[in-house]
Amino acid sequence: MHLALIGYRGSGKSALGKRLSEKLKLPFLDTDARIVDNCGCSIPEIFRDHGEDYFRMKESEVIAGLKDMGDAVVSTGGGAVLREENRHALRTTSYCVYLTAAPEVLFERIKGDGNRPALTALPPMEEVRKLLAVRDPLYRETAHLVVDTGTRDIGTCENIIIEAYASGGNYDR
Ligand code: S3P
Repeated sequence: MHLALIGYRGSGKSALGKRLSEKLKLPFLDTDARIVDNCGCSIPEIFRDHGEDYFRMKESEVIAGLKDMGDAVVSTGGGAVLREENRHALRTTSYCVYLTAAPEVLFERIKGDGNRPALTALPPMEEVRKLLAVRDPLYRETAHLVVDTGTRDIGTCENIIIEAYASGGNYDR
């Protein structure tokens, strides 16, 4: 079973994913990085040249491929839970950990990052609030475990996740 990290932009999926893959001695798969490799261009370029729907299709292809791979730590994009097929694929192939943080914390972590294209026409902080409200139930529906990364340091989050993954139980839900 993979260990998959889900959650909004800035929730710590990539940073924690890399640490967890080292600790658990499992390969690290970042679905966004795989999409970039497969497409040969950056995420902002994919959004600009092909649109979000095309990106979502490529994202679903990578997530559908999880069932054919050996165990890995998987860091997903913030919108990976939008499609039901992805939620199902994630839940059935992976121990899914939803990384949460308050919208203000997420906003502080992602503001000014040119590699994250706007997803709405809203001002950035409002976009975070609006999309988080829509996505939070989807993250929770997919997750086996919920870990707040806004109120704990990264090492503590890492230990909680390792313990829960090793025991296969719900630690913090
Ligand atoms: C997205 C989040 C991004 C990336 C794309 C879309 C989203 O990943 O997949 O820009 O819809 O929230 P991160 O969560 O790693 O920033």
